[in-house]
Amino acid sequence: MLFLPLLPPPVVAAPPPLPGQLLFQQNCVRCHGANGRKGANGAHDLTKSNLNGFGRTYLVMNGMGKMPAFGKKLSAAQVQQVVAYSLTLK
Ligand code: HEC
Repeated sequence: MLFLPLLPPPVVAAPPPLPGQLLFQQNCVRCHGANGRKGANGAHDLTKSNLNGFGRTYLVMNGMGKMPAFGKKLSAAQVQQVVAYSLTLK
């Protein structure tokens, strides 16, 4: 008798959403838009930004022009997460 093991299909776990994505939706989308391109209130297009993580962290902590500072609102870890997420917007 032929034994055919029924292998369960490989479980491919969906990648967990980046923690920064939620923070981005809560804090940044109103100006930058979900894809980073909205440009409300004179916000810069994040997909075209040349700023690296270091520069973005500084800007998010301290604000610039019409962009509010998030240094008091978000923890340092949250700023890192939201900046990491912003770097994935291309
Ligand atoms: C009230 C609107 C507003 C909100 C909310 C906001 N931004 Fe901005 N953002 C701006 C504006 C305006 C600029 C341009 C600042 C300037 O150069 O004067 C900017 C610029 C930036 C830049 C620099 C882009 C570049 O290279 O020029 C980054 C990065 C950025 N924002 C990230 C974020 C992140 C991350 C958040 C959420 C934590 C956020 N912003 C929330 C308005 C906003």
